Amino acid sequence: MSISYDASRRLFKIDTPRMSYAFCIAAGVPIALYWGAPLHDPAALDAEIRSIKVNAHGAGAEPLRCECSTNDGVDYGEASILPIFADGVRGMRPAYESHSIDGDTLRVVIKDKYYDFTAVLCYRTVGKLDLIERWIEITNHTGAPVELPLFRCGNVQLPSHDNYRLTHYAGNWGAEYQPQRHMLHQEQVVLESHRGTCSAHQHTPFVTLDPDGEATDTQGDVFFAALEWSGENRMIVEKNAFGDVQLCAGWNDYDAEWTLRDGETLSSPKLAAGYSGAGFNRMTEILYDWQFDELCPQSKVHNVLPIIYNSWYPYEFDVREDNMLSLIDKAADIGAELFVIDDGWMPGRTDDKKGLGDWRPDPERLPNGLRPIADACHKKGLLFGLWVEPEMCNPDSDLFRAHPDWIIRSEHRENTLMRHQLTLNMARDDVRDWAIDWLDRLIDDYQLDYVKWDMNRYLTERGWPEASRADQRSLTIRYMQNVYTIWAHLNEKHPNVLFENCASGGGRTDFGMARYADRINRSDNSRPRDVPLLHEGFSRLFLPKTAGGAGNISNEALVPLDYRIHLGMTGSMSVGINLLTAAPETLDRLREALAYFKTVRADLQNAYVYTLVSGEKHTYTVFEYLRRDRRSVSVFVFGHPVREWTRVPALRLRGLIPDALYRDEAGNTYTGEALMKVGLRVSLFGDYDSRFMHFAEVK
Ligand code: DGJ
Repeated sequence: MSISYDASRRLFKIDTPRMSYAFCIAAGVPIALYWGAPLHDPAALDAEIRSIKVNAHGAGAEPLRCECSTNDGVDYGEASILPIFADGVRGMRPAYESHSIDGDTLRVVIKDKYYDFTAVLCYRTVGKLDLIERWIEITNHTGAPVELPLFRCGNVQLPSHDNYRLTHYAGNWGAEYQPQRHMLHQEQVVLESHRGTCSAHQHTPFVTLDPDGEATDTQGDVFFAALEWSGENRMIVEKNAFGDVQLCAGWNDYDAEWTLRDGETLSSPKLAAGYSGAGFNRMTEILYDWQFDELCPQSKVHNVLPIIYNSWYPYEFDVREDNMLSLIDKAADIGAELFVIDDGWMPGRTDDKKGLGDWRPDPERLPNGLRPIADACHKKGLLFGLWVEPEMCNPDSDLFRAHPDWIIRSEHRENTLMRHQLTLNMARDDVRDWAIDWLDRLIDDYQLDYVKWDMNRYLTERGWPEASRADQRSLTIRYMQNVYTIWAHLNEKHPNVLFENCASGGGRTDFGMARYADRINRSDNSRPRDVPLLHEGFSRLFLPKTAGGAGNISNEALVPLDYRIHLGMTGSMSVGINLLTAAPETLDRLREALAYFKTVRADLQNAYVYTLVSGEKHTYTVFEYLRRDRRSVSVFVFGHPVREWTRVPALRLRGLIPDALYRDEAGNTYTGEALMKVGLRVSLFGDYDSRFMHFAEVK
């Protein structure tokens, strides 16, 4: 890992083990030169440097491939910064001023030629990964406010190729992470979510580009970028008239802008740009390593996640002391390790029309509060968790009656309700502090081991009547900044508590929340037919061990229980079956399965996951879970509903140590080479047949 500056060439070079990235100062600004496989000799870039047209600001000239485009001169591409100064002048005319290299971080300072307005382009290498985090910090010393209708993370210039295939993950509620692919033409492709405070139901803020669309899972160049932002986002991929391709990303500015006061500094979100020279699987490995070794809460991410029993699927809002206490006994009996009371525990919350915002137990249905339930869990050796939705309230709540001004709303506009609820204005610091206060108290009062943070509606009527016009325009940005502050506080103050990130399922599955959450509600869709496809998309990017839901061993009784158990094993297992009405055979099978899962869980939850066979194109799906040290491997095979039997060709595994010996649970041994080259034979019969195989290295 190194960051170097070659003064004779004015060249910055960032080298990671399998990637180089280079740009230089030319025409007074940072210009992209190279991104791809390691480039050892800087002289290799001399011709590129010579070819930069220093008169590029002249009309008709080819635009420069700027590291931070500001729409200056003939640079017509998407800008990263677009200031409007107090006198009405628009745009920044940047000039390189200085730079510094401090360990893993390079900071290049550019300044407007006329106004005292600076932008620091930041580049940070991430451990030993082929990944660079990029962001911009701007400071206004002009003596007056500067409006910023556009402010993004910097421009990522792709290497020159005729054709790129663009892949991103989009979908909807219950159908998240669906891959979308197309060849990039001369066009601008805008990938975005603009529902306010949500990232991923519409578009996961992540994109890949591979030259000529030729990369496979195991071969070829793949360039990718992940935005660390959980509110609405915009990623713009552009191929211009000269065939150059660039990416520009940040929070979504379609209805948000910041006014930078005099003396103020503002940071853009971070964009992590990475490179794999060995196809999409290596990209996934890089993303996992980043999450395992840096991004996710480090004190917890290496532990196995407890098996959850959650009250939502069996009881929804019907939370009572008696049914919860009976469930606790049953949950402990089958071997669950964490009992979560989901929605429905607050005053009057017997449906979704009331009680949201009043964070105390319903005196009627929980007359003794939550204490007896917390105690019962702890006495049985179970952890105890609670569901909360801190960003919302029902109009029928004491909170709304006391603070009608805490709602996001516009004057002269009736509020649109979604799920009968309104959004609290988390951009307000008093609302943020109120949330911190009651969350801290709730965790302490009930010795919570787990908090499920839900978020169940999109923004409408985006107003903040008490704020200045300028601050109103920054509502969605300030909102997310404050949400992050609360999550950071919770992690710091309660380092042993596990936090789940849920937003109507996977509405906030992104690399911004990954920093704070131990578990992700992958989707509200736990239908066995859909889960393999959801998991394919999810596990391309995010740690499979975090993939949860209120019950990923679903209660869909027509599907064989073993199939549902196998699906539950692919992620953070939770049981959604009503244990009070389940048949004794079901309870016996669950008990046995949970006990078995515990014996392989550490391997499954510290693994790279490869989709060996995609359910997009086949009538079955195969996942390989390769422990990160490559000394254990597991295989899941999920047959889809089919007319008869499914023929499965040999399954050739990936990434094993060729001469290591692996033993399956029947005692058969195989070399890594045999498993990779000859493969495994599996037969599936009928609808919803599934297999799980586990192999460990023979020492
Ligand atoms: C949406 C979540 O995704 C579900 O798991 C559940 O918690 C409900 N909200 C509760 O309202």
